[in-house]
Amino acid sequence: MATHPPEPFRIKMIEPIRLIDRQDRAEALRKVHYNLFGLRAEDIFIDLLTDSGTGSMSQHQWAAIMSGDESYAGARSFFRLQEAIHDIFGFPYFVPTHQGRAAENILCAIFVKPGDCIPSNMHFDTTDANIRARSGRPVNLVGETAYDPTYQHPFKGNMDLDKLQSFIEQVGTEQIPFGMLTITNNSGGGQPVSLDNIRKVSQIYRHFGIPFFIDACRYAENAFFIKQREPGYSQKSTLEIAQEIFAFADGATMSAKKDAIVNIGGFLAMNDPDMYQKACNELILREGFPTYGGLAGRDLDAIAVGLREGLDEQYLAYRLGQTAYLAQRLVENDIPIIEPAGGHAVYLDAGNLLSHIPHSEFPGQALSIALYLEGGIRSIEIGSVMFAYKDSASSKMIYPKMELVRLAIPRRVYTQSHFDYVADTIIRVASHKEDLRGLRITYQPALLRHFTAHFELL
Ligand SMILES: Cc1ncc(COP(=O)(O)O)c(C=O)c1O
Repeated sequence: MATHPPEPFRIKMIEPIRLIDRQDRAEALRKVHYNLFGLRAEDIFIDLLTDSGTGSMSQHQWAAIMSGDESYAGARSFFRLQEAIHDIFGFPYFVPTHQGRAAENILCAIFVKPGDCIPSNMHFDTTDANIRARSGRPVNLVGETAYDPTYQHPFKGNMDLDKLQSFIEQVGTEQIPFGMLTITNNSGGGQPVSLDNIRKVSQIYRHFGIPFFIDACRYAENAFFIKQREPGYSQKSTLEIAQEIFAFADGATMSAKKDAIVNIGGFLAMNDPDMYQKACNELILREGFPTYGGLAGRDLDAIAVGLREGLDEQYLAYRLGQTAYLAQRLVENDIPIIEPAGGHAVYLDAGNLLSHIPHSEFPGQALSIALYLEGGIRSIEIGSVMFAYKDSASSKMIYPKMELVRLAIPRRVYTQSHFDYVADTIIRVASHKEDLRGLRITYQPALLRHFTAHFELL
């Protein structure tokens, strides 16, 4: 198969996009206080803010939507989704939620008490915030290679097993109500986790009697990386690999907006019937009745179809090839990125590219603003805006190890010529990088500040 296989689909419907003038882009930035979340989508040419909920559904998904059953209780749509979840993930129980963070909220509502610690390779920001919102402590124990942007390793999302073991021994199991693992590791470059690592993480959690939940948003991309890169898996189907992965876990949180290629939806799945009972009680309070949760019946059907389509190997070869293509063009032009390319996104190493801008002045935010100004491209900072915090004991700011800008690739949306445009724009911005300035925050909320903070150019 070619390294960058062509799209295994053709385009049946188009959505026009346009590049507004540079002056208008500068004005739009000023109006939204340099927070790209505030922009009107119609003022963006190529939107790489997120791969979440931004994919194109297939004709099969749209057809499934038409047969959605909107019954309040016991809808056929629920049972179709149940069958797909059972076939792929193997968990006997699940509750549908409106998206991934609602599943995380229910998981945390059931388990997290003040002072509890939740280990993972790396928590995504909403998981991190859901744990903190209940006065728990999210703990990231990914291997050190994840912090070395150019270190070549096939599974840079792997948990550091020694760190996990000694963390549990040190903290004690009473304060660890469950443990997690994010596949692929979004906050650390979209890097996959090997099956060997998943197996060993599971053994450690089981040894200590700690329930093990997988953040499964990108289960299919992770499964395809295992097929491509892990010895012994090249002849297994991505479905078989997914089944093997989840057999090691006690449950999963899922944002279906990623690998199930839908615009809204998620679920929390589990093995334990008592936990299911508790999840239903939380669900009824916050989302809806257990057979629809936070969704319409038609959404459940689109997810059921999308979960299987997400595992299609021709599609996955094209998708991961598209990410690799953009990464390759950047590396060839000496743009620092996290290598090797992740699954759903290319991560620019803004800390390295803009080494003249310190953590406290947000090099990632400066770069993402420059990409919009130069080419109407929207990206997202994954660095100090998202993760820096003040340590309550020392009152010192704690900065993340990397200052990244993520270019997330929506599924089945943009073509290779769009990615050539993106690469050319980044190369132009990098050619005058000394001119870029940092920023100062002028407003921020207490949690998840990156969504709504205001900035001022320095
Ligand atoms: C790894 C990971 N976990 C959880 C979430 C949260 O999902 P949602 O946006 O559907 O709430 C995301 C979203 O980007 C994610 O990437």
